[in-house]
Amino acid sequence: MKVDLIIKNIGKLVTMEGSFFPRIGSQMNELTILENAYIAVAQGKIFEVGIGDKYKELVGKYTKIDDVKGMLVIPGLIDSHTHLVHGGSRENEFSKKLNGVPYIEILQEGGGILSTVNATKNATFDELYNKAKKSLDRMLEFGVTTVEEKSGYGLELETEVKQLEVAHKLDKDHPVDLVHTFLGAHAVPVEYKSNNKAYIKLLVEEIMPRIKEMGLAEFCDVFCEEGVFSVEESELILSKAKELGYKLKIHADEIVPIGGAELAAKLGCISADHLMAASEQGLKDMASVGVIANILPGTSFNLNKPSANVRKMIDLDVPISLSSDYNPGSCPSENLQFVMQLGCLNLKMTPNEVLSAVTINAAHCIDRAREIGSIEVGKKADIAVFDAPNVEYLMYHFGINHIDRVYKEGKLVVENKHVSY
Ligand code: NIG
Ligand code: FE
Repeated sequence: MKVDLIIKNIGKLVTMEGSFFPRIGSQMNELTILENAYIAVAQGKIFEVGIGDKYKELVGKYTKIDDVKGMLVIPGLIDSHTHLVHGGSRENEFSKKLNGVPYIEILQEGGGILSTVNATKNATFDELYNKAKKSLDRMLEFGVTTVEEKSGYGLELETEVKQLEVAHKLDKDHPVDLVHTFLGAHAVPVEYKSNNKAYIKLLVEEIMPRIKEMGLAEFCDVFCEEGVFSVEESELILSKAKELGYKLKIHADEIVPIGGAELAAKLGCISADHLMAASEQGLKDMASVGVIANILPGTSFNLNKPSANVRKMIDLDVPISLSSDYNPGSCPSENLQFVMQLGCLNLKMTPNEVLSAVTINAAHCIDRAREIGSIEVGKKADIAVFDAPNVEYLMYHFGINHIDRVYKEGKLVVENKHVSY
């Protein structure tokens, strides 16, 4: 096969090879790191990974050779939990937040998620598209090549569809690949205030089947939290979702330990996300059936909440992924590198564990581990090149963008820290 691209002179190459199962326990910390390596790419896929000069045998007339001058190379980052498409912003709630008004109280007063619901309803398709595209460009500039995105700012069919259709168009137009999740159970809309039952009926009988029929979402998610959807309500919604053919995710035990982790295990969710308040039993249940704990340290940081107990999760063999949770309320930042640094600084993960969490485990979290998440022959050539001498440096020098360049399916899409697709 014709090799289109060789990336040579890689100082340290983290391959994340061995990607059949999510990494657990000490596997998260044990990485293969090749020195003086190269990657050969053919037709957008990894063709060969090797050491030193051996790439010369692969060079043909049209092979492009990129010298990365001793830099650090890892698989393209995967952000497996975002609320990418939404209208408006919520800096008007910032001073309330700084004065200690709780997140859930702002929501119960009709602000928070519900204020973004209004802004999203009032936004045109193009307004939503342009805003989300800007965020997606920013994510790519930070080295992210695949993003999971959730609806949930419509809470009625028309706006949920609008959000998801914007995301599908972005998936077509933009180099970053998107994975779509329906989150109609993100809040109870004002029209149904205190009538959760009627809203859930509308969700499971009308909206969820329609979204599935339209092929707009692969996953279904629920905000299972005290004052939002109870464990019983979440079980009802997610069980119906499973019947309809959705894969499952859940926002679980973010603020109050109500048993979201236990429910995730009972229903076989691919991931349970947040888990800042999860019980030990819930974590054990998750470990026993392999539910991934998708941890969102940017949100804990921004809400000034205690971090999830990731050390305990790793001890219990719960697989960990890390994501941004990018959204206009609890985490208005697209910077996954900062989230990774918080993984070390606040969650006390090792730099190697963090890398496992934003590559191969994040790929499992969105059911894409056969295609992405590691640099192995046959996988997509999604490659992040960092101007850093080693993995530790990436976490230690925080708050900046370490990216030198990014390849998406073998195509150079970020150069000099800016998108150029
Ligand atoms: O994951 N917790 C629920 N949903 C989002 C926040 C959404 C918002 O505040 O707009 C989250 O943190
Ligand atoms: Fe979220």
